[in-house]
Order: sequence, then C-alpha cells, then structure tokens
Amino acid sequence: MSTSTHPLTAHGTAQSRLVRALLGDRPAVTPVWFMRQAGRSLPEYRALRSQGTMLQACLDPALASEITMQPVRRHGVDAAIFFSDIIVPLALLGIEVEIAPGRGPVFSQPLRTSADIAAAVRIDPAGVRERGEAIADAVGRTTAMLADLSAERGEAIPLIGFAGAPFTLAAYLVEGGPSKDHMAARRLIHEDPAAWEALTMWLAEVTGQFLALQVSAGASAAQLFDSWAGGLAPADYRNSVLPASAAALDAVRALPVPDGVDHIPLVHFGVGTGEILADMATLDIDALGVDYRVPLDEARRRIGRDLTMQGNLDPALLFAPEAVRRAAVERILDEGRLSRAHVFNLGHGVPMDADPDAISSVVRMVHEWQAA
Ligand code: CP3
Repeated sequence: MSTSTHPLTAHGTAQSRLVRALLGDRPAVTPVWFMRQAGRSLPEYRALRSQGTMLQACLDPALASEITMQPVRRHGVDAAIFFSDIIVPLALLGIEVEIAPGRGPVFSQPLRTSADIAAAVRIDPAGVRERGEAIADAVGRTTAMLADLSAERGEAIPLIGFAGAPFTLAAYLVEGGPSKDHMAARRLIHEDPAAWEALTMWLAEVTGQFLALQVSAGASAAQLFDSWAGGLAPADYRNSVLPASAAALDAVRALPVPDGVDHIPLVHFGVGTGEILADMATLDIDALGVDYRVPLDEARRRIGRDLTMQGNLDPALLFAPEAVRRAAVERILDEGRLSRAHVFNLGHGVPMDADPDAISSVVRMVHEWQAA
C-alpha cells in the first residue's frame, strides 16, 4: 500500500470513532454501523440496481462506490462497508458463480469430488490481486467521497473492507449454493480431511488476497465474515476451520502499515457462534462481532480476553415500536460496557424490507446515549 496516502493517516480515519473503538479506546460517542447497510432496504439502492446483475454492480467502480456511500449519507453511520460480496474473489479467478436474488451465491459447478477440489486449488490466488483493478478503483473512489463527507461532518468516516472466511466460502462451493445445514461441507471435513484442508487453505489465500486488496487500496479496517461457522461442533471448528481463518487474517497482518499506525483493526463475525466464541477469540483480531443470541456481556465473559465487542441488536427489532426498539438499544449499550470498547451493530444483516427510518433512528439513539 502507498502508506503515506492511506486514509488512516491522510484522512485521519485512525482517529475516527470506529477505528479507535476497534483498537480498544472508548470514544465519547459509541460508533455504529450495520451489516448489509447498503442494499434493498434503501429505495436509492433499488433505483441504482434496477439494471444488471449483483456481480456486475460489484465490478463497476462508479456504481459500487456510490452504493457504498448511500447508507452513510442517509443514516449518518460512523463507517461505510464496501459494497461487494464474499464470492467476488472467486468470480475474479474465473469460477462460474452468480448471485441469485432472494437466494444467494449459486455455483454452476459445485466441488463434488476430490478431483474437483484438486483442480480448483491449482488456480493461482494471485489472480485476485492481478484482476482486482475494479475493486481497488471502487475502494479509491469511495475513500475520496468519504474524505469529502468527513470534512463536511467534522468527523472522520472510515471504510471497512470485508471478505468471507474459508469455511463459509467452502460451504457454498461444495454445496453449489445456499443450504440450511451445510451438510456437504461438514461431511467433507470427516470424509476427506486432506481435500478439506487443501480447499480451505487455498480459500484462505484467495480471501486473504481480497482483504489485502481492499486494505491496500484504502480500507481502514476489515471484517472477516464466517457467517455459517456457528453450525459446526466446537472441536471441528477448532481443528478444521480456525487454521484457515487465521491464515486469511495473516494476509492483512503481513501488509505494511502507515507511519504512526500500529496495525489495521480486524473484526471477526459469525452467526449462531455462542459455543465457539472463545475459539474465535483466539484469532489475531481486535474485535469480535456477536449475533443477537448471546448478550454482549455474556459474550465478553465467554471469551476470557478483552477484545472490542461489536453488535448485536436483533434485526427483528427494526420492526418494533420506537419505545421497544429504544429499550433494546439501551440494554445492548449497557451490556457493551463490560468490554474495553463497543461498536454498535445489528446481530446480523439489515433485512431487505426494514424501514430506513427505523435504521436511522437507531443511529440517533446510539449517538445520543450517555453511560449512566
Ligand atoms: O452493506 C453491506 O453489508 C456490504 C455489502 C455486503 C453484501 N454481501 C452485499 C449483498 C456484504 C458484507 C456481503 C457479505 C455476504 N454475502 C455474506 C456474509 C454476511 C452475512 O450476511 O452473513 C454472505 C453469506 C453473502 C452471500 C450472499 N450474497 C447472500 C446470502 C445474499 C442474499 C441473497 C438475497 O438476494 O437476499 C447475497 C446477495 C447480496 N449481497 C445482496 C447485497 C446487497 C443482495 C443483492 C441484491 O440486491 O439483489
């Protein structure tokens, strides 16, 4: 990365509420952003996305950067999350995949046999960086727009980069699409451990390259989504998944950092991870994203390590009456006080039919909150 022009120093995002909280500080105002804040909940998103596929939008720098900015402008959140998808690096490598509306990623040739896996892992992960120009361009355009908006607001707004963790990507690749129980992946772990290890360590490189690409191009923090890891038994998570997640995060840790910046903050998140939080927390991360099933104070007790906690309003509360929503937001802010710092978020993504005004109201509630 050109470290002297990175937004962490050039635009002051190192002093932003988000980055400070991720690194363990408690800014006067708790930072808030939402997973899936960009997307179908916003009429301005639906207007821009009326033509073309999701993947085309991800690879169009003007469109992707504009979509990334929409929720930041509308809701006044403390960070942008890059508009992309976890399967983008696989698409960049030439793997045939589409994002089926209402379903998710669908692969035309699922990896069914060890021969399929052996062929896939021969693809050089360096292709993600080599063919990632549209991604770097979109990140650059976004950080330039964020710098302007930050100047207007008098508050630095960082861009969060993200990638899918090897397990979640593998779950889609071997199944061929979304599934409820990820049986194909869980089965492969035990049926052919060598093929599983080869696949997930290859995915660690692929997804690590995608993370590093975004951070090098100007993202000030990064989040690794292991959305489906909560479906695993803890021992399987520990033995067969954690090493690949660690390798993916190492790709960011290996990057040079701008002068005066200690390291790039990393967040790890998954759904239904109550039983594996302590294992997830052994990774080299700064913050742990928790879904709505485990209160943040209980999550802090479970991990036995003082990380920043991110979360965890049940997205269903976006549909509740304002007073009910406020009580839930305040309870979560209170539970977040047990940790060194708290980044407010939902417990999973914004539902597509959520009322944008309800989302904005949560931002106001968090920003106005004063610890008793
Ligand atoms: O605002 C943001 O959070 C940034 C963008 C973002 C998207 N996908 C955009 C998107 C992020 C961070 C993701 C990550 C992602 N993608 C994950 C991990 C996060 C999670 O939700 O657990 C997963 C599992 C995927 C795979 C995926 N992509 C699914 C399951 C779907 C939903 C399918 C649907 O139509 O409901 C997608 C599509 C997708 N990714 C959309 C968006 C805005 C909807 C596409 C559309 O508008 O048609």
